[in-house]
Amino acid sequence: MVVNQVVLKRTYDLHKEEYEAAALRVLNSGWYILGREMEELEQELAAWAGVKHCVALNSGTDALILAVRALGIGAGDEVIVPANAYIASVIGVTENGATPIFVDADASMEMDADQIEAKITNRTKAILPVHLYGQPSRMDKISGIAKKHGLKLVEDCAQCLGATFRGKLTGTFGDIGCLSFYPTKPLGAFGDAGAILTDSDEIAERVKLLRNYGSRVKYHNEINGVNSRMDEIQAAMLKVGLRYLAEGTEDRRRQAAQYREGIKNSKVIIPPTYDDIYHVYHQFPLLVEERDEFQRFLKENGVGTQVHYPIPPYVAECYRDWGYAWEDFPNTARYAKQEVSLPIYSGLPEEELRYVIDVINRF
Ligand SMILES: Cc1ncc(COP(=O)(O)O)c(C=O)c1O
Repeated sequence: MVVNQVVLKRTYDLHKEEYEAAALRVLNSGWYILGREMEELEQELAAWAGVKHCVALNSGTDALILAVRALGIGAGDEVIVPANAYIASVIGVTENGATPIFVDADASMEMDADQIEAKITNRTKAILPVHLYGQPSRMDKISGIAKKHGLKLVEDCAQCLGATFRGKLTGTFGDIGCLSFYPTKPLGAFGDAGAILTDSDEIAERVKLLRNYGSRVKYHNEINGVNSRMDEIQAAMLKVGLRYLAEGTEDRRRQAAQYREGIKNSKVIIPPTYDDIYHVYHQFPLLVEERDEFQRFLKENGVGTQVHYPIPPYVAECYRDWGYAWEDFPNTARYAKQEVSLPIYSGLPEEELRYVIDVINRF
């Protein structure tokens, strides 16, 4: 049997007719950028999240870059970020000329909230937690620290749309929640797309300006902006996807529960998670010391896996001038060497999931 780590076509097929009708509606409308579909999506997402504003953008990376920019953070400023993160979270800081200050991961693989305060200096302007794999970071401690030190809070929700911490939706704890609709994400577009969530009129207005060349009125460029508009087709697709977000999440949670129940192999560790969260399982990460052999064995048996992420951003080639060594953040370094993500997605057939468990238990 062949089991791929993700098969986007299957997720699409679940609601194919609605996606196709939405795409055709836009094609026939003759209006493709900054239109009604995008405005409706913004309203629907804001209402769904219970916040005042959603601003639709071109990608999750842009959401992070423009969020940091809208808060006035730039050269000379520091932003606290998890060492165990995707490079885009760090790009959100570096593209603004600010410096990321890394915090190692805890046993659940999220930013270790107990290590944050020691990293705060008089240059620190914000904390940027990344809710990795669909699992919320420890937001009680993180938002407490942000409040205590008067720091801005920007959440990277690229992987966690719909996840809650003690009943509160991720992306609504701080000043700005950044969303990615990259096709594999919990709410996936059919191309690049992203958005920010915020309760602040001022921030929403600023991000709207930034996304459209810094202009509100054509040819009147008030600030130095970029082009980061979500196109109408993606907005229309995301309106369809939003209707099935909860259904897809429950599907992945069911798959995760089956993995937890079924995987019994002493060479394979399922990292601990918390009881006070609603995990949306964008990924199902395992830790395996003999990762290469494990991935090879699974591949020989037809099972595809991925690694999130093999090279932590603090040792990325592009940031080599910072001079970090792998062992500066020992937990993150270990995860980078041992993490393996199993197949998990909305539409993964039951027999394929059971087969994956069987292969793992034979390793
Ligand atoms: C944690 C995280 N942040 C940011 C991004 C960037 O989003 P995008 O690909 O939409 O630019 C991604 C994924 O792609 C991500 O996984």
